[in-house]
Amino acid sequence: MTDSWANLGLDVHLERAGRRVRAGLEGSLREAVQTGRLLPGTRLPPSRTLARDLGVARNTVAEAYGQLVAEGWLAARRGSGTVVAEQAAHVAAPERSAAAGEPRIRYDLRPGRPDLGMFPRAAWLGATRRALADAPDAALGYGDPRGVPELRQALAGYLGRVRGVRASADVVVVCTGFVQALGLVCRVAAAAGARRIGVEARGLDQHRAVAARTGLEIARVAVDADGAVVEALGDADLALLTPAHQFPMGVPLAPGRRRAAVDWASTGGRLIVEDDYDGEFRYDRRAVGAMQALAPDRIVYAGTASKSLAPGLRLAWMVAPAELVGALAEEKALADSGSAVIDQLALAHLIRSGGYDRHVRRCRLTYQRRRERLVTALGRGVPGARVVGVPAGLHVLVELPGGMAEADVVAAAARRGVAVLGLDAFGGGDRPALVVGYATPPEHAFTTAVARLMAALAEAG
Ligand SMILES: Cc1ncc(COP(=O)(O)O)c(C=O)c1O
Repeated sequence: MTDSWANLGLDVHLERAGRRVRAGLEGSLREAVQTGRLLPGTRLPPSRTLARDLGVARNTVAEAYGQLVAEGWLAARRGSGTVVAEQAAHVAAPERSAAAGEPRIRYDLRPGRPDLGMFPRAAWLGATRRALADAPDAALGYGDPRGVPELRQALAGYLGRVRGVRASADVVVVCTGFVQALGLVCRVAAAAGARRIGVEARGLDQHRAVAARTGLEIARVAVDADGAVVEALGDADLALLTPAHQFPMGVPLAPGRRRAAVDWASTGGRLIVEDDYDGEFRYDRRAVGAMQALAPDRIVYAGTASKSLAPGLRLAWMVAPAELVGALAEEKALADSGSAVIDQLALAHLIRSGGYDRHVRRCRLTYQRRRERLVTALGRGVPGARVVGVPAGLHVLVELPGGMAEADVVAAAARRGVAVLGLDAFGGGDRPALVVGYATPPEHAFTTAVARLMAALAEAG
């Protein structure tokens, strides 16, 4: 059905596709602004008038106006109603002008990244200053490939206190990101005769590739509502799991599965790599402790600063079974002769001073609020969508309502300058879904990022 809207002296056609009247109205208005048919400063009819003209509910028009205000196409002015925003031309321009014809990313809702604007620069500077002031010259040489003793000590205490990890400084190995930790474990295991590694069927390609490069055969293990189906690990020699918060499905490994995984590892001297990539961020209650405590001699616990501080630090750590530490240290020495000392010392100071805890608490509050805002917006804007998993981490899995295709939403989002990924990017699932990272946009851009994602979902619906 097509309505003609002549009040403005313009012949703006509103395609009203079935039930999605509001989405149709939004799309038509947005398009009219984008193409210059509605010029900046143009006053729109009051929502009551337009609703009457179109024969739709007033709320539908008010919500469409609200959405376009949030996206920056329209502006609501006290006393003069709703007008086409002066800067609407600028909103449109960058998205359409990228050199290769590709839309420019203005809002990054891909999973896996923290808000880099929250990096505790002052605290890090202070910690680095202290580290340099305290460190003797000898500390700046090649050191223990496992990492500087100060950081290994600080991490052992921190991980025991916060994640329940059974750790002493001796068995901590500092790495250049989790990605290196995984590579080291796989190489050591392969050298000891391991042939197959069980990897969650939904996860990061990069991690599978790292394991495959060491010569291990990859066995994909299904993931369901209880996490990885560990019963299917079968005759693999080691496994890579995300027990606290499966990536990307967002579910924790169920208690029975945790026990089954430990039993599997304990029989036959197998190993589990526990990727605790976002264990600090649980919002509804205290996070379930690390699985490593159930079998410290079979589980390599691994954590990273990539979510809690910044990926650019390239700092991660593992707590390894004592019998593996020597071989891991040897591999680490071969890989890079040890991680950067000054950053390690700075992190040790940050942890010891309580600055790391304070920073994590601040991030936790921010990310929790963002998650709630995103989930509320989804509930209102896309009633058929289902948010899967526990409130934790920096991303949420959103199953799309019937008939909506991942690729359509991703493309509609890209046209609005929003980068978001479908579950396909992580191995796919039974139903179309988005993996939305809510931590990356700076705070001031978050509302618009969500509004644009909602607009994309409405368009694809
Ligand atoms: C599932 C998962 N594990 C681990 C990491 C951390 O990797 P790294 O420490 O190499 O930055 C990430 C980061 O995105 C991740 O998504």
